[in-house]
Amino acid sequence: MTTQPRRPHLVIVKDGGSAAAIAADMLAREIAAVSDTVLGLATGRTMESVYEHLVPLLAKRSLSFENVTTFNLDEYVGLSAEDLRSYRQYMIHHLFAHVIADPRRLHVPNGTAEDLNAECAAYEAAIRDSGGVRLQLLGIGETGHIGFNEPPSAFDTRTRVVTLDDGTRRQNAEMFDNDPQAVPGQAITMGVGTILEAHRLLMLATGTAKAAIVAKALEGDISPEVSASAIRLHPATTVVLDEAAAACLSEATRATAERP
Ligand code: F6R
Repeated sequence: MTTQPRRPHLVIVKDGGSAAAIAADMLAREIAAVSDTVLGLATGRTMESVYEHLVPLLAKRSLSFENVTTFNLDEYVGLSAEDLRSYRQYMIHHLFAHVIADPRRLHVPNGTAEDLNAECAAYEAAIRDSGGVRLQLLGIGETGHIGFNEPPSAFDTRTRVVTLDDGTRRQNAEMFDNDPQAVPGQAITMGVGTILEAHRLLMLATGTAKAAIVAKALEGDISPEVSASAIRLHPATTVVLDEAAAACLSEATRATAERP
């Protein structure tokens, strides 16, 4: 990590499917290069399509997930690993059930731990003990969060319990009968500092709803008020956007983009 702002490698593609395919390809290449790699994983609607592409890609390239270690960014407080709305279940549904993996290597914070602070400290220790995340997948929330680092989140924050913004609870209400009040008010999330320690970052955003916050994150102040702006302090960041999510970027920024 560096404190000098860097320009992320920007890729703009026509639609969400193409963006997901690129992200899946990067994950698959990482596994091909390092069979026992450590991946940081994300959930949410954007990522559904990434895993949809990744599963057949792994099979097609005969890549084994057996020695891969994963750490998910976050989990709701109060939802057990069996709860269908939990991020553990999301990961089982979209990825873990479709690959041969070692369950001991698949980490998602435990949102029902008796001592949540101890759970957060243990999660940090497990990431450290694994040798660190090599490739961290990130989405971006409409509040500018990465993981569940709601504004303001200092750039040295570690895995901790956070209170979710009302906007995030609205954004994520779909799994909770469209009732934002039913979305848990707290979550465990890797901190911004934790995320910045990954060797490489891959942020993905698709759709018009993300256009304004993407522009803020990539062109606005680098500030704890927009957690995602922190990725510009990382020396090895790729940002993959579809045209809709890139719509509010300046021409100057758009001109730097690779368009495969
Ligand atoms: C979830 C996570 C969040 C999401 C973000 C975007 O694990 O880390 O930061 O990536 O909220 O969510 P979607 O893709 O549902 O818009």
